[in-house]
Amino acid sequence: MTETVLLVGGGGREHAIARAIADDCVLYACASNRNPGIRRLADGFETVDETDADGIVAFATDIGADLAVIGPESALEAGVADALDDAGVYAFGPRSDEARLETDKAYQRRFMREADVPGCPDFEVFDDMAAACAYIDEYDGDLAVKPVGLTGGKGVKVIGDQVTSEEAKAYLRNSEYDRVVLEERLVGEEFTIQAFVAGGEFRATPAVQDHKRAYEGDEGPNTGGMGSYSDTGPSLPFMESGDYDAALDVLDAVVDALPEYKGVLYGQFMLTADGPKVVEFNARFGDPEAMNTLPVLETPFLDVLVAARNGESLPELTFSGEATVCKYAVPEGYPTDPDSGARIAVDEESVGDALLYYASVDEREGGLYTTTSRSFAVVGRGDSIAAAEAQADAALSAAGDRVRIRHDIGKPDLLDRRVEHMDKIRN
Ligand code: AMP
Ligand code: GLY
Repeated sequence: MTETVLLVGGGGREHAIARAIADDCVLYACASNRNPGIRRLADGFETVDETDADGIVAFATDIGADLAVIGPESALEAGVADALDDAGVYAFGPRSDEARLETDKAYQRRFMREADVPGCPDFEVFDDMAAACAYIDEYDGDLAVKPVGLTGGKGVKVIGDQVTSEEAKAYLRNSEYDRVVLEERLVGEEFTIQAFVAGGEFRATPAVQDHKRAYEGDEGPNTGGMGSYSDTGPSLPFMESGDYDAALDVLDAVVDALPEYKGVLYGQFMLTADGPKVVEFNARFGDPEAMNTLPVLETPFLDVLVAARNGESLPELTFSGEATVCKYAVPEGYPTDPDSGARIAVDEESVGDALLYYASVDEREGGLYTTTSRSFAVVGRGDSIAAAEAQADAALSAAGDRVRIRHDIGKPDLLDRRVEHMDKIRN
């Protein structure tokens, strides 16, 4: 039977999901923006906001969807998975209660403490910003200041890294946040592992390293992610044997404690001198990380979705063994003052063997326009990170001049610096 699948979301992550399943199913998609990549792959597209649960259920019913894949966290928080499940359309994505693992950082840390999930940093939750400021003064060491809700990766301030204690306190006093988590600053190298979860079991994919800082050399404000890379195996160059498995033990403990969880579980880890610690969990694919993972996944992703829906054991995953490098093109001024509504050109012909993923662009009046978020990405693949980087960088000649790119991602210089940094932390 050919499955009819509804994809929710219109970013680069969802373009990657669409490409992974479009040949194997009848695909419909909905999002608030018209992503030209998704629209071309889909048999039908409707403009519906990702958080409009009723609108999404109506569309799913209209098209006779057999299952749905939910891309963005905003949809999970809005209860889109709950609404689809309740309407009889299996949603690959957790219900809003379980998505609190991502959408409520206070819940997430308390959950880790209660369920004895390894890798939890020291933390305290504050509703009173004056008390939070006093804690910053008393605490022996640097802290990360984290608003509990979704901030698109841009709300966290790390003392001793991005801000001083005084700036962190001013941030708390001037903010409208009514609850924050203050936690031990973790020092090391970050990596992500995404796992497919259903029926109390999980299947993990290779580790990816994202680059959150806006500018080359890891300078500037945090973004949703400027680009990312993965290696030919499950691990990354700065990791030692055992680090990947230690991170899987963390995911295993989460899945054990949440037997009803379904969808993607994304672990963001800091590899510290004491092994991997949890920076956060996300309840969905990473963006850009989905663009590293899905192109090298040889197991049809639809098989994972169907097994999850049918309550069958998830298939064992196989991967192509290629390294990947993903680089995002973002509007000028992103993330602080993005030049939205700018008409941009993407020369699809010059991408070559690399993959092109459209993200938060809007296709209208025969043109392509930026929004306030990331515009498009290219992904290179190869038998080494260097080869994948070269392919991605060559493809960037497709980008016109109204976007900004971090060319350094995946280049040997930056990779060497990560390895040296980790060596220093271990010794
Ligand atoms: P999050 O929104 O939790 O992903 O945080 C955004 C970024 O802030 C992370 O990718 C880290 O770079 C940084 N961060 C978050 N928590 C910590 C921590 N406890 N120690 C150091 N850096 C952190
Ligand atoms: N790349 C970070 C995220 O998807 O949250």
